[in-house]
Amino acid sequence: MEIKRVGVVGCGLMGSGIAEVCARSGYPVVVSEINQELLNKGMAAIKSSLDRAVKREKITEQDREATLGRLQGTIKMEDFKDCDLVIEAAIENLELKKKIFAELDRVCPRHTILASNTSCLSILDMAMATKRPAQVVGMHFFNPVPVMRLVEIVSTILSSDEAIDTARTFSQSIDKESVLCKDTPGFIANRLSMAYLIYVIRCYEQGLATKEDIDKTMRLGLNHPMGPLELVDFIGLDTVYYILSAMHEELKDPLFAPPTLLKKMVTAGHLGRKTGKGFYDYK
Ligand code: CAA
Repeated sequence: MEIKRVGVVGCGLMGSGIAEVCARSGYPVVVSEINQELLNKGMAAIKSSLDRAVKREKITEQDREATLGRLQGTIKMEDFKDCDLVIEAAIENLELKKKIFAELDRVCPRHTILASNTSCLSILDMAMATKRPAQVVGMHFFNPVPVMRLVEIVSTILSSDEAIDTARTFSQSIDKESVLCKDTPGFIANRLSMAYLIYVIRCYEQGLATKEDIDKTMRLGLNHPMGPLELVDFIGLDTVYYILSAMHEELKDPLFAPPTLLKKMVTAGHLGRKTGKGFYDYK
């Protein structure tokens, strides 16, 4: 199926990145937020990301203007009525996501494919909130969306081959590589990377080495772009905690039990870069 118009629900860190990337690739995009203030904030983030791309000579000023011209911000779900693909990137709350999917199902035409950018929740649960479960898939992007090359395409036991093919072809059209995975907690990337990150936090908690030396080892010894504790700060400690809790709850694997240190830091509001303090200080 040809995608002519794209919708993105949520204009936070991930939603704004997804909307930007789709609009930069030539798609008219409708992007929503729950109120005008959050929408303005999200649209400003897209603009500053495009400004940065112009500065780095990745796009021209004309490209930036054309991209902005393809973006429509809204606070009304009805505005998704002409979209062929809608990617949900709201906060990680299954009940909220189920409501959004039911609403999208009501508003969007029969052919529209509905996707979720969730990093750990069950796509099938969202699909079952609609009358079109065969047209519901996962499309999991990575932060920062304009930079990271991958999209995980998640197939539930009810997703149709056509919906999966469309999601894969669409990913290619926005210059992303895709991988296909089953609808299991954490999909591929978080299932593997969370096992690593949680082990690092436990080792740090036990005094293996300083945070600087742990990070330096993985950056310089293994060529990772960021050290693991820097990466946890970058993702957000609350997000890591939430993903781990969801995976632990579903898989019952003690490997994913959130470490005490992580829980304490989240309780203290040390959520990483976004609050100015995590394992490192950003103030
Ligand atoms: N938006 C747009 N572009 C950005 C950007 C952003 N927020 N941040 C960096 N960039 C671009 C820069 O413009 C630059 O591009 P050019 O080289 O083409 O000019 C390039 O990325 C490198 O940026 P910098 O030189 O400023 O900084 P860096 O070399 O330290 O790279 C980084 C920054 C790309 C974030 C790099 O450190 C990195 O890849 N880190 C790992 C990120 C990662 O693992 N992300 C996945 C997180 S997990 C997730 O998202 C899934 C989940 O479910 C939790």
